[in-house]
Amino acid sequence: MAKRIKLKKKVKNIFIIIVILIIGLIIGINKYKEYKYKQTNEYKLTQVGYTLEESKLIIDKLNNKNENYFIDNEKNDYIIDLLKEKYFLEKYLQEYLEYKSKNKKKSYEDIVAIVNVRANKDWYDNKIIKETDLSKGNLILVNKFNYLKNDYSPKEITNIDLNYSYSGNKVSKETNDAYIEMAMAAKEDGIQLMANSTYRTYERQEEIYKDFYYSKGISYADKYAARAGYSEHQTGLAIDIFTTGNSTTSNFEESDAFKWLSKNAHKFGFILRYPKDKEYLTGYSYESWHYRYLGVETATKVYNSKLTYDEYYAYYLDK
Ligand code: DAL
Ligand code: ZN
Repeated sequence: MAKRIKLKKKVKNIFIIIVILIIGLIIGINKYKEYKYKQTNEYKLTQVGYTLEESKLIIDKLNNKNENYFIDNEKNDYIIDLLKEKYFLEKYLQEYLEYKSKNKKKSYEDIVAIVNVRANKDWYDNKIIKETDLSKGNLILVNKFNYLKNDYSPKEITNIDLNYSYSGNKVSKETNDAYIEMAMAAKEDGIQLMANSTYRTYERQEEIYKDFYYSKGISYADKYAARAGYSEHQTGLAIDIFTTGNSTTSNFEESDAFKWLSKNAHKFGFILRYPKDKEYLTGYSYESWHYRYLGVETATKVYNSKLTYDEYYAYYLDK
């Protein structure tokens, strides 16, 4: 009997020891987990002042080096809204932060767009300008930061049919084919398109720019004309389109031809290159007449995105 009681006691003690061990183990595991969690960037970011959700967003969107930047610095008021922007590019993180801190009233959407197209810098800034990436073919970007060398000329330059163009106008063969198809489709809808200014050599662009420069001054010239090497007209992919009658740059927007192009140009591979109210992104005053050939696929994507080509290129093509 006494032996039995002793055995029972022993079993009870072993049971208690096992329970204690299990509890100890659970506590130990939890302590270890806590210790490990405190080493994560998620925890460290919450200690800086970001919510758990914000910390997760930073980790999700940024590389380790940039995560550490936000761990090592005071809570940043701009980063979370910036990260929520659709066209955020990590390579410009520090530029967004700097530009926003100097331009507090600008929306996050504008901050991202401006920095993406490099318009936070001075136009033609020597430190930013570079020869454009010619490997992009019909998608090359020519703007105030991306230039063509003076000897660049398009391949297979073609005269445009005088039924749809004033004399002396040439573009690349592909641009011509697309333009003629578009002009014929417009004609079927009772709209007459006329190419007014198309391919220009480096030297011709220089003359045009200088004319503006000497008659109206530098800021006017830079609003309306590209400096030599920086004009899309040198690519053979740009067409200034007018219609018959007294069509001019100042009244083309009022024409049925403009309305027709606004609805249809992308279906033939063309986009309006310098849209209204986008001067701060393109660097040029609104040009209702200047169309750029990109091919149907990209022109349709740019049209649907509602982005300028500078923004579209920065986000989708400048890889
Ligand atoms: N007018 C356009 C911007 C050009 O000169 O190329
Ligand atoms: Zn033009």
